[in-house]
Amino acid sequence: MEISRPLIGFFDSGVGGTSIWHAAHQLLPSVHSLYLADSAHAPYGLLPLEALVHRTEVLTEYLLSQGAELIVVACNTATTNAIAHLRARYPVSFVGIEPAIKPATLHTQSQVIGVLATRGTISSGLFHSRIQAFGSGYTLVIQHGDGLVEEIEQGRLMGEQVRVLLSQYLSPMLAQGVDTLVLGCTHYPFLTPVIESLFPGAFQIIDPSDAVARQITHLWHHPTAEQAGQAVFLTNGSLEVMRGFAPEGAEVRQTKDF
Ligand code: DGL
Repeated sequence: MEISRPLIGFFDSGVGGTSIWHAAHQLLPSVHSLYLADSAHAPYGLLPLEALVHRTEVLTEYLLSQGAELIVVACNTATTNAIAHLRARYPVSFVGIEPAIKPATLHTQSQVIGVLATRGTISSGLFHSRIQAFGSGYTLVIQHGDGLVEEIEQGRLMGEQVRVLLSQYLSPMLAQGVDTLVLGCTHYPFLTPVIESLFPGAFQIIDPSDAVARQITHLWHHPTAEQAGQAVFLTNGSLEVMRGFAPEGAEVRQTKDF
């Protein structure tokens, strides 16, 4: 498969990182991009560290082999556990995403912040260092989102199981005075409509996709063009689900290449 160059590579454990792709595309519509959904290995949040790091290497090497000049780790779990390793190992710039604790501190009125993230992110050293750096003086209610990624990977964004899990995870936050909710997984912004329907007006939702997109523009030094960039989405999971998350007109393919 030939993809136009220069290109930006994106990867995630599945379809969730398309939330970052969409934000980046708003700012850089003419840039060519290749998105890898590693759905066959989702959820990353439950993978042992060694297996997770290995997957990030496989995906990085595939993107480099396709000519990526900038790699977006569109996954909090992969960023918080592996981006330092990737930066040390590969001669290319990486942009990552991590739970937006600092922005949440600027928005909260109650000084109580909720963080919904995967177990892998919550147990990472990077997440703990961010809490130490920015969280003092605030109460943080940290909750794993077990089961949510699996539902999203099946394309069930509004299903009964999603509603049950979100009620279970977010009701205690409300009871503890959380007014600002950090979505610490790139899959979760797709649940914003159902969160708002379950808890109308209860939480200010912090999704750092736009900040990550701005960071991408700072690191992308090629001139932009008039015409839209080529966008290719590859998945090692369900083609149908990937199609539901990719933009209109994108090339979407299933592969066993990574
Ligand atoms: N999108 C990934 C993240 O941001 C989901 C991780 C998972 O697959 O568990 O953490």
